[in-house]
Formats: sequence, structure tokens, C-alpha cells
Amino acid sequence: MELMQKNLSIKIGKLRLSSPLIAASGTFGYAKELDGLVDFNCFGALITKTVTLGPLTGNKPPRIVETPCGLLNSIGLENPGINIFLEEKWPYFAELNLPVIISIGGKTKNEFIRLIERLDEVKNLSAIEVNISCPNIAKARGATMFSQDADETYNLIKALRRITKKTLIVKLTPNVTDIAQIAASAAKAGADVLSLVNTYFGMSLDINSRKPILGNIIGGLSGPAIKPLSLYALYQVQKTVKLPIIAGGGIMDTKDALEFLICGADALSLGTVNLINTKAASEILQGIKKYLQKNKMSSIRRLIGSLRCQS
Ligand SMILES: Cc1cc2nc3c(=O)[nH]c(=O)nc-3n(C[C@H](O)[C@H](O)[C@H](O)COP(=O)(O)O)c2cc1C
Repeated sequence: MELMQKNLSIKIGKLRLSSPLIAASGTFGYAKELDGLVDFNCFGALITKTVTLGPLTGNKPPRIVETPCGLLNSIGLENPGINIFLEEKWPYFAELNLPVIISIGGKTKNEFIRLIERLDEVKNLSAIEVNISCPNIAKARGATMFSQDADETYNLIKALRRITKKTLIVKLTPNVTDIAQIAASAAKAGADVLSLVNTYFGMSLDINSRKPILGNIIGGLSGPAIKPLSLYALYQVQKTVKLPIIAGGGIMDTKDALEFLICGADALSLGTVNLINTKAASEILQGIKKYLQKNKMSSIRRLIGSLRCQS
């Protein structure tokens, strides 16, 4: 049975994607530098590095440290700000023959509102990912993120929903007691799609200097180390909320990707793996095709959410 690419297509919100693989925010630079290295056709969509209202220079270096089976980063959302992004970076993205999702971040509700108002006018913009889960920028009123609080999540997403009809993807933090409760708040407020997970808080020390390695002291952990945790987060959310889910966190190969699909992910985000292997998406897509053929499944939709739990 020859599996056509259309049988790998998925729908999230109003978006129909030719592949379930999505490049996770912040791990793809501005895509241009990957020309010739990455087969963009393997991706169903790209999510940009999070853009903020004004430019951010990011956190004090070092900003990246490898840990056993993981990567700690504290980039701090370095970006040129929405105006320069739209003038200088967006034209390249807009020319890619691929849906591009712009990720936005802010410290206050007002910043998010102004960003959404700006993006609502952008033609050819497939969707907006609302990053309310960055571990590396402190919110003005304290150290928590919007997505650590169900009411704050609800109020913010409700306000953004009133402004735009564009597909709103809400990206959640796993650094909470009950991620399903936050997901339910986002859904109730009008989110179209959920995106899980952002990185887990972490830190690393130099035992000789007895100082933290990251300039920002703490960072966000990604990569294989978090995979069982992020799979669990997906399991909790898909049981509670009926919205489409882009899930990831530690997906490194075909087996990982299949686990997330079986557990109920409608699409998969690939992050840290892109920094290690520029061919990862192509290998994973081939692997998914082979699995479907071997298991005589005519479409990826038969695999999604096919988890068999003994009770
Ligand atoms: C270097 C780096 C930069 C990141 N920047 C962002 C960002 O700007 N916005 C965001 O929502 N997530 C950001 N992330 C988080 C990823 O999008 C992803 O949610 C996380 O790394 C977990 O997936 P992974 O284990 O596949 O990398 C970043 C991750 C890394 C490693």
C-alpha cells in the first residue's frame, strides 16, 4: 500500500497541514539560515521565535548548557520586536511554501493585546501562537507566567479572542500542578488549539566556582530528558479538553513521535532535535509512513488517539 502524503495531513483549528510535524518556536532561527540544510517539505508548519512588542536583547550569557539527555536554555526571548520583525523577517517567511505561525510573548495583558491587534492585519498569516509559558522572562507583576494560573489564562485569552478571528494557539507551561486545568481555561476562553509543552524549569552549577552556569541562573530544560514528562502532560490534557493539540517536548525520533500521536497529539512539535540533526523531520516523517504501512493504517488519523489503556 503506497501511502500518499495526503494521508499524513492533519487539521488543527482552521489549518490543514500536509504533515503533522511542526518546527517548535525558537529552535529554527529565522529559517533562512537553514536553506539547503532542512527539507522544509517535511514540515506541516513552522512556528517563529517568539516576538515581543519591543526589541529584547535577551539574558546574560551563557544562555545554553547541555545536561545529561537535555538542553538548558535561558535565551530570554531575544528578538527585534514586532515592527522590525514584520518589516525585515516576515517577507522571507511569507515566501516559504509553508504555513508559518507567528509566536508572540509579552509581560502584560496590554502587550499581548497590542501584538494581536498588529498581527490581525497581517495577510497570509496562518495562525498565532500565544506564548504564555516562557520560563525566561519574568512577568511584570512577579515571577509567574500567565499559564501558571487558570484565571489569568482565561482573562488573557478571552481578551485576545475578542480581537481576532485568526487561529489562536495557546502554548502552555508544564511547570504547574495540573496542566489540564489550565488547558480547560484556555479552551473556555476561546483558544482554537493548545500547544504543549514549553520547557521545564531547571538549573546547572559549576562545582569549582560554585556558581550557576547560566547567566540567568535558571533556564528551561528541553530534549530527551523531558519526554516522559511531556507525554504525561499530553495524556492529562487530551483526557480533559477536546481541542486539537500540538504536542512535543523531547521528541527525538520516530518512536517518540509515534508515542505522542498514539497518546492523542494531532500535530507534533520538534524543537531541540532540530539543533542536533537537521534531517530529523525528514527521518521522522518517513518513519511514521513506514509504521502506518506496516500496521495497515490508511491514514494518520486512525493512529491519533489510538492509545489502548487497560483499566
Ligand atoms: C534554544 C531554545 C529556544 C526556545 N525559544 C522559544 C521561544 O522563543 N518561544 C517558545 O514558545 N518556546 C521556545 N522554546 C521551547 C521550544 O519551542 C519547545 O517548546 C521546548 O524546547 C520543548 O520541546 P523540545 O524538547 O522538542 O525542544 C525554545 C527552546 C529552545 C531549546
